[in-house]
Amino acid sequence: MKNGITKVLAGAGLVVFLITMAHTPGAHAQEEQAALGPQLSERLRTLLREEMNLIQSGMERALIAIAAGDHQTVYENGRDIYRSFILKQQLTEQDRRELMAVAPAGFIELDGTFHDTAHKLAKAGRDEDPELQAFYFSRLVESCTVCHARYAGDRFPGLSRLGESDSGHHHH
Ligand code: HEC
Repeated sequence: MKNGITKVLAGAGLVVFLITMAHTPGAHAQEEQAALGPQLSERLRTLLREEMNLIQSGMERALIAIAAGDHQTVYENGRDIYRSFILKQQLTEQDRRELMAVAPAGFIELDGTFHDTAHKLAKAGRDEDPELQAFYFSRLVESCTVCHARYAGDRFPGLSRLGESDSGHHHH
């Protein structure tokens, strides 16, 4: 199916784009006010980064599996992303309190959306439905960019325009 292949390839392009950006140190911390990372304790920030890197590896594997029709691997990676996300695991009660105190409601909400979508990707893997897999994969990529634009603008300056169009105010 041409449509499905196009979708998967579009997803691949975005992921390569994201990976490239993740390896480019953000030279200018322009949107520091919105950035969540600098407000976290060293411990919590390290945990968040570890989770992000796990998520990223899971996304790479899921993409390749979707392209190959390897449904079991799509399922496993969707499930791992869903389970490993920071708000679900590894946090002590104190970490959780810190995160809840610092993280804006919008961040918690985006986390929830991301989490739900990873769950749906896992289901689409289990149901052996490549079209839905590509759909939920692209929804996940969208979640990465939206959350990074809003809450990690210092780290990902290339997404700042996306953040502006949603946040309704500008810093000069
Ligand atoms: C709910 C918000 C949110 C979502 C969704 C999200 N991220 Fe992040 N991500 C962050 C924040 C905040 C940081 C910056 C952490 C910091 O300041 O060190 C970050 C940082 C990263 C980093 C850099 C980690 C490091 O070692 O410094 C990578 C890589 C990353 N994210 C990948 C992804 C990918 C891929 C996705 C989607 C599949 C994703 N993230 C989804 C919030 C999110």
